[in-house]
Amino acid sequence: MTKLIVTTAVLLSILSMPASAQPAAQSTDEMVNEARAMVKAFGGSLKQALQAAIKEGGLTNGIGVCKTVAPEIAASNSNDEWRISRTSLKVRNSNNAPTDWQAIQLQAMKKQPVKNGKPVEVWQVSEASGQPEFQYMSAIPTQKLCLGCHGDSIDPKVKAKLAELYPEDKATGFSEGDLRGAFVVTRKIPAPE
Ligand code: HEC
Repeated sequence: MTKLIVTTAVLLSILSMPASAQPAAQSTDEMVNEARAMVKAFGGSLKQALQAAIKEGGLTNGIGVCKTVAPEIAASNSNDEWRISRTSLKVRNSNNAPTDWQAIQLQAMKKQPVKNGKPVEVWQVSEASGQPEFQYMSAIPTQKLCLGCHGDSIDPKVKAKLAELYPEDKATGFSEGDLRGAFVVTRKIPAPE
């Protein structure tokens, strides 16, 4: 009897699923909220992983987290429609270089990374690429934790490791409070049926 109930419940839940995987149209407000939640999840996981790696094996160990774990966490927080990444005016990894629009936003954020105690955010819906795309950015101010790898006086061992992995590294010389970069969340808006 119990078995039957479970089966029925499963069946009902399958039947009540939407017929198509096409997501419902979202208002800009809803997309902004979704983007904020993604930044919170990604930023939180990343910081946690970084702190754990540094605690375990120092800054040189932390480099590995930023190099491999950051893109992994970003990928696991992304899907076909939504993508999250990071960018900066001074990049360590050139794959993170900003688009023209992103560079303009970063220039403005650089003057004021934080407003009313919160990282500055900006968004737009653009059709520049042919398909409507929602794009959201949230400033990343430099914190104390970041200075060991992005500051002025980097330990020679860390410096050597960074130089080996990133010969074109531009992401040093930051002070606490400086704009380090921004989170970028994009969503390709599906065409209406
Ligand atoms: C242990 C060293 C280390 C620490 C500490 C560190 N980073 Fe990084 N950071 C890196 C490395 C390595 C990369 C390049 C990652 C890649 O290859 O995509 C990077 C990349 C970035 C990027 C992407 C843009 C770019 O330059 O390529 C941002 C933004 C960033 N870091 C911000 C921060 C912030 C904010 C903190 C402090 C909360 C921080 N980092 C702490 C090593 C570090």
